[in-house]
Amino acid sequence: MLSYSDSPRKQLLSVLDLQEMKQCNEKISCLTAYDASFSQLIDQAGIDVMLVGDSLGMVIQGKSTTIPVTIDEMVYHTQCVTKARQRAFVIADLPFLSYSSIEIALNNSAKLMQSAGAQMVKLEGAHIKVISRLVELGVPVCGHLGLLPQSINLLGRYKMQGKNIKDAEKIAEDALKIEQAGASLLVLECVPTDLATAITAKLSIPVIGIGAGVQCDGQVLVLYDMLGISLGKRPRFSKNFMQSTSGIFQAIQQYQQDVKKQLFPSSEHSF
Ligand code: KIV
Repeated sequence: MLSYSDSPRKQLLSVLDLQEMKQCNEKISCLTAYDASFSQLIDQAGIDVMLVGDSLGMVIQGKSTTIPVTIDEMVYHTQCVTKARQRAFVIADLPFLSYSSIEIALNNSAKLMQSAGAQMVKLEGAHIKVISRLVELGVPVCGHLGLLPQSINLLGRYKMQGKNIKDAEKIAEDALKIEQAGASLLVLECVPTDLATAITAKLSIPVIGIGAGVQCDGQVLVLYDMLGISLGKRPRFSKNFMQSTSGIFQAIQQYQQDVKKQLFPSSEHSF
């Protein structure tokens, strides 16, 4: 059977394609992207989804957190990414405090979708009213639970979330609320494999994991981490694919194949 990425069709993937991939049990590959050159390369390597993440604050701008990233910077990088791809679905992050009310979230989503060509926006936390309204007005939304980098000042850096039963239950409840509010996708970051597996089985929308185990419907990594060129220490759940390949394109292809075959993440890259 041809998978979506083997298929000769080079049409832009839609949210319905991602939904169908979950139903057919085909894993969804996702990488962050911030510029046109990498966008083209990632697209040609067959990656299904590109996330213009506010991680650009760290890997592009050299800042220590995602907090200073602005909506104008997100628009600029999203424009660069959408210009250069043919097939990959593009999600753009709503940065820190850019969805602090329904009205603000609508204005900023309009910038990411209308000016920059994003197909979906991602926001951190269970902001149910904001998500419902965005969806009601036709904005596809990706939720983000577990470790929330925009809450670094509350949660700390790269600390596993959902370790005790109470926290795990809260994440599972929020995941269901986010789905019920109409989100089309959910990112789960840095949570125990068992919790991510249970949430993935319970939700009908695709769940994309980062440090959440191999049972999620798909995987995402920060591009510069998997190429081994990030500033600072690579998080435990990430893997440097350049170590076993002969170049950037090959490393991205290897990641793509390992996600599809469920070879990544291994237990070494999970909690
Ligand atoms: O900004 C980002 O890169 C992200 C991923 C860590 C999921 O949100």
